[in-house]
Amino acid sequence: MSILSVKNVNKQFGGLKALHEVNLEIEAGTVHAIIGPNGAGKSTLLNCFVGRLDPDTGSVDFDGVSLLGMRPHEINQVGVSRVFQTPEIFGDLTLVENVMIPAFASRDGAFQINGWRQVADEASIHESAMHLLEDVGLAASADTVANQLSRGDKRRLELAMCLVQRPKLLLLDEPTAGMARADTNNTIDLLKKIAERGITMVIIEHDMHVVFSLAEKISVLAQGTVIVEGLPNEIKGHPKVQEAYLGGAHL
Ligand SMILES: Nc1ncnc2c1ncn2[C@@H]1O[C@H](COP(=O)(O)OP(=O)(O)OP(=O)(O)O)[C@@H](O)[C@H]1O
Ligand SMILES: [Mg+2]
Repeated sequence: MSILSVKNVNKQFGGLKALHEVNLEIEAGTVHAIIGPNGAGKSTLLNCFVGRLDPDTGSVDFDGVSLLGMRPHEINQVGVSRVFQTPEIFGDLTLVENVMIPAFASRDGAFQINGWRQVADEASIHESAMHLLEDVGLAASADTVANQLSRGDKRRLELAMCLVQRPKLLLLDEPTAGMARADTNNTIDLLKKIAERGITMVIIEHDMHVVFSLAEKISVLAQGTVIVEGLPNEIKGHPKVQEAYLGGAHL
């Protein structure tokens, strides 16, 4: 069963067709990778799922409900979380505070925090934030200010910030970009654990080691269109995929 159903999505920036008739079905409980050369439209597509961009035409349905016209925090509240290509964290706050903020937000909407409930729930939110920091391997730095983290650790912090919202669908835009190999492998293991919990994942990634370690299905986007889609072994070495990457990224 599809948890996310994308039909005939188009998005134009001035004269540039960033997305052209994109169709995508994401099966519940699977890890689905979107790959493609730089500028293919991958991040633009994700932006259309989370309310950062409105497609010009087409539909995006999550769990049978249209996401179009919903505001980003509303999309969050129905169970869709996202890790951005550039980490979006609160640099001046500690790690545990960073993880607590989205927990409050997902409970109360866009920071419309109800006073007495805040007091009642703060301890339990702190506890679950600490558990998640443990899951992502950052518990020892819980009271460190987020600015001090390496880029790889910022990504892991962002993951914890997503998971605290208990998403049904997790969208990851290049989760291992800029990471050293050891951190990348740790992230692969972490994402496998998350997938085992039944959270559906869409992952955009250039690192084919990550893609082929995690993805159950792969869609290849080139020049705003899905050119090939299939199981990892069908994508590996596919002539159209090789062609799309010629002179571009590695596969
Ligand atoms: N807000 C915007 N305004 C104008 N053009 C944009 C905007 N966002 C993206 N584009 C253009 O749309 C195209 C697709 O960009 P997008 O960022 O979606 O690619 P991508 O597949 O994520 O690439 P990368 O792998 O480099 O992250 C590019 O040509 C980009 O320059
Ligand atoms: Mg991108």
